[in-house]
Amino acid sequence: MEPGELFTGGAPLEVDLGCGDGSFLLAMAREFPGRHFLGVERLLGRVRKVCRKADRDGLGNVRVLRLDARYCVEWLLPPGSVTRLHLLFPDPWPKARHHKRRLVNQGFLTALAAVLAPGGEFLFKTDHAEYFEWTAGELAACPHFTTCAWPDDAFFYPRTDFETQWRAAGRGIFKLRAVRAD
Ligand SMILES: C[S@@+](CC[C@H](N)C(=O)[O-])C[C@H]1O[C@@H](n2cnc3c(N)ncnc32)[C@H](O)[C@@H]1O
Repeated sequence: MEPGELFTGGAPLEVDLGCGDGSFLLAMAREFPGRHFLGVERLLGRVRKVCRKADRDGLGNVRVLRLDARYCVEWLLPPGSVTRLHLLFPDPWPKARHHKRRLVNQGFLTALAAVLAPGGEFLFKTDHAEYFEWTAGELAACPHFTTCAWPDDAFFYPRTDFETQWRAAGRGIFKLRAVRAD
């Protein structure tokens, strides 16, 4: 994809991978009209729902792609084009034989570092303690990222639909914030 195919104007671009019902994406787009927001979601019904809500709210700074998240990062997004990538409550694939399906691995992080702008950030949340440890380990092993603190009041960061559900069910929430190191 060429820069400018999704948005023109050069505003910062934030990507929400696996945006689900879009509650996070749309709340961010309302809060930051000067930024561009791209949702990536493989389920057509969810994509349509997010697009309908964005239209209804007149949010011209939102686009949604119906695509595989890994493909989007590894093959589609232009190098250096993304200021923040959000991966919020991705499928944890808890069984050991399915761990290879997890999105976060060295290949994904290397591709992500290439699409992030200098100083760009990767923000990750999960309710799954073991996937959190896995992702922390992958980030520690990756020379392209440095993890940094993420206090609750660091910046505006609305809860996603899944986060609201997990918190209501009393589950712990784990989060990681990493900056492109080079
Ligand atoms: C557990 S839900 C979380 C949704 C949202 N981020 C939230 O926190 O409310 C995971 C979402 O990622 C989407 N998803 C899973 N694998 C994907 C993939 N490979 N490419 C794109 N979307 C994917 C699912 O369809 C689902 O909407």
